Amino acid sequence: MEFTNLLTHIVADDSLHARWLNTLSMMENTGARKISAAEPKTTVDLLMLKHAAEEARHAYYLKKQIQKVAETDCPTYEPAFLLAPNDSHAYLNRLDVQVCRYLKDTLGFAGAELKYAAYLLVTYAIEVRADELYPVYQDVLTESGSKVNVRSIIVEEEGHLAEMLRQMETFFGDWQGHAERAVAIETGLYTAWLTSLLATEKIIAGKEN
Ligand SMILES: [Fe+2]
Ligand SMILES: [Fe+2]
Repeated sequence: MEFTNLLTHIVADDSLHARWLNTLSMMENTGARKISAAEPKTTVDLLMLKHAAEEARHAYYLKKQIQKVAETDCPTYEPAFLLAPNDSHAYLNRLDVQVCRYLKDTLGFAGAELKYAAYLLVTYAIEVRADELYPVYQDVLTESGSKVNVRSIIVEEEGHLAEMLRQMETFFGDWQGHAERAVAIETGLYTAWLTSLLATEKIIAGKEN
């Protein structure tokens, strides 16, 4: 099923839509916490603080949007309130683990250097995904006349992608090969996540009454 179709199914069903928003919120929050955890204690700069703050805002903003679609709330990130809970929870950690392994194996990084390099590549891959996913989601929301909107997130994610590109250039110099590898790892995990979304919710044709 095409991603647009999947989202159209989700947005048309308040309960699914609420859990989709909660799932995105949880993933944004995981991202915010990962950025904070990667911050060097004394030398963290304005850009990294801004990024952590904006990802935390995305988590809050998406959670607030749930009030616009469903009477039933999704109060926590517990499995019952998420879509594909296991894969959604694990996605970012798996990406982090696999990117770290790549950096250790190919560049021999360790310690603070590994932590920062992994932050750059993991965040870059996520921004590439966010820049693809949120505009498709916004189109579906607009098309269906939903009160939910994610335009402010799209603007900030575009800014993040540009910032990550600049930081990768500074850190790696020759960054393209590493970035491509991170995107390839992310694509594998994203595809598995989508499959899991479809399977757990039986959104594949026939779910409608
Ligand atoms: Fe975000
Ligand atoms: Fe971002």
